[in-house]
Amino acid sequence: KDGALWSPVLLQWFDAYGRDLPWRRDVPRDPYKVWVSEIMLQQTKVEAVRPYYDSWMDRFPDIPTLAAASQDDVLRQWQGLGYYSRARNLHEAVREVAAAYGGKVPKNKKDILALKGVGDYTAGAILSIAYGEAEAAVDGNVLRVFARLYNIDGNILSGPVKKEITALVQAQIPQGRAGAFNEALMDFGAMICIPKHPRCGECPLADICMAKRAGREQELPVRIVK
Ligand code: ADE
Repeated sequence: KDGALWSPVLLQWFDAYGRDLPWRRDVPRDPYKVWVSEIMLQQTKVEAVRPYYDSWMDRFPDIPTLAAASQDDVLRQWQGLGYYSRARNLHEAVREVAAAYGGKVPKNKKDILALKGVGDYTAGAILSIAYGEAEAAVDGNVLRVFARLYNIDGNILSGPVKKEITALVQAQIPQGRAGAFNEALMDFGAMICIPKHPRCGECPLADICMAKRAGREQELPVRIVK
C-alpha cells in the first residue's frame, strides 16, 4: 500500500473543508506574507497568530516597509507572541532581501535557506505556497500524519525517520498544487489527524491509513525528545 497515491483525495477534502486564514487570501500568494505567517506559526497556534498577523500587515505590508522599520518598532509589533528571536531574525533577513535581492524573496532554495531564521520547513513552505515549486514542508504535524498513514514506529524526531517521511511527502506532491497540498496537510493535521485521539470517523484517508488498519492510530507517532 505504500506506493498508493492519495494526495488527490486529500486535496478534495481541503477544497471542501480547508480553513479560510488571513495569510491565504491573496492570489497569487505573496512570498513575504507566506514567510511572515510561517515564522509566526512556528511556535504559536493559529488562533493566537491571527490578530498579530493582521496588525503586522497593517503596519508592515511589504518588505521595503519592514526593512525600513526600527528594531524597536518591530519588537513592539511582536509584543505578546513570544520567542522574540523570531522577530529579530525576520527583520534582519528582510533587510538582507531588501539589500541583496531588490526586495524580492529569492526563488531558489539555497538563497532562501541562507536567510536568518529560515530552515528547511519555512523554505519549503515559501517555495511551494508562493512559488508553486514541488517542495515538501515537513513540520511536527506532517510527521504525525505520515507516521500514522504509513504505520512508521521509529522516533519521528530522529534524522532517519524525518528523512524517510520527507521522501514520502515528496512522492505525494501533486503536479501544479504543491502549495495547496502542503497547506492541506497542515489543516488535516490540525483538524482530523490530531494528536492523541485522531478523528478517524471523519477522515478522508481512513481506508488507506496503515496505523488505523493495525489499530495503532492512538499509539503513533513515537516522539522521543533527545
Ligand atoms: N501551521 C504552520 N503553517 C501553517 C499554515 N500556513 N496554515 C495553517 N497552519 C499552519
